[in-house]
Amino acid sequence: MTMTMKGKTALVTGSTDGVGRYVAERLAAEGARVIIHGRDRTRGEALADRITQQGGHARLLIADLASLAEVRSLAEAVRREADGLDALVNNAGIGTSGARRELGADGFELRFAVNYLAGFLLTRLLLPMLERRGPSRIVNVASAGQQAIDFADVMLTRGYSGARAYRQSKLAQIMFTFDLAEELAGRNVAVNCLHPATFMDTTMVRLSGVQPISTVEEGGAAILQLVTSPSLERRSGLYFSGMRASRPDPQAFDADARRKLRALSFDLAGLTDPLAARV
Ligand SMILES: NC(=O)c1ccc[n+]([C@@H]2O[C@H](COP(=O)([O-])OP(=O)(O)OC[C@H]3O[C@@H](n4cnc5c(N)ncnc54)[C@H](OP(=O)(O)O)[C@@H]3O)[C@@H](O)[C@H]2O)c1
Repeated sequence: MTMTMKGKTALVTGSTDGVGRYVAERLAAEGARVIIHGRDRTRGEALADRITQQGGHARLLIADLASLAEVRSLAEAVRREADGLDALVNNAGIGTSGARRELGADGFELRFAVNYLAGFLLTRLLLPMLERRGPSRIVNVASAGQQAIDFADVMLTRGYSGARAYRQSKLAQIMFTFDLAEELAGRNVAVNCLHPATFMDTTMVRLSGVQPISTVEEGGAAILQLVTSPSLERRSGLYFSGMRASRPDPQAFDADARRKLRALSFDLAGLTDPLAARV
């Protein structure tokens, strides 16, 4: 049972490929005005055209999430596109492949920057639009692949591997979800996160050399449940594995680690923490 998406506006980051593309198409089929996001204009336009031909509404916004300036421009473009947001799906991500450490445009370790920090900043910038439309939802697409963050070396200057970078960025998304849910309690915006499915048949899985064992339909259904299920409308701060509530890495429950990540994230993103300002 899903609530109707008719007349609702949803932004899905990383919807030019993989499970994000599937979710964007499904939301449009259910009547949502979908804001597609990606880096590749050709694939983005192809999806927007397909949605329009099927009678849906789609707009395409282009931004490289490896740059905080582009994240800010994306948030501004979303504000020009719509007066409110009913759902934000932070889905864009880079997988585990690649042995060489890479940096984003701001000098931060690339997976931390794209998979986590970009979504953190985008969410904070779009919160007023989500609150305007409440009850609204934020869904952070994380992963069962998680690794505790070493706060002495968040940018992984030592002992780097693509898998470690991916896993710490995914746990950071979960810690952010729990932290934001606490902050937003009683404010009509639910924020949840999930591991959609294991080794879906997508570009990131194929690039890592792993044989896919699930489909985007499977992972997409789990994401869509968090976006549309009426029973989850007022439930926040949850981590799902597929269709079921589950437990992430213990660091997600470590209040001190969450406080450290929060302070670091506001600092790196160049934002003032509204809670710190109140003290
Ligand atoms: N596949 C799995 O089995 C699995 C399992 C657990 C969690 N997940 C999570 O599910 C989400 C989607 O993954 P997927 O498997 O669908 O991967 P995918 O097919 O590789 O799609 C990733 C999407 O993110 C976009 N993206 C990557 N880097 C970007 C950047 N710098 N700026 C803007 N967009 C960027 C990609 O755009 P381009 O096409 O231009 O690169 C693409 O649209 C990820 O967060 C992933 O961690 C996946």
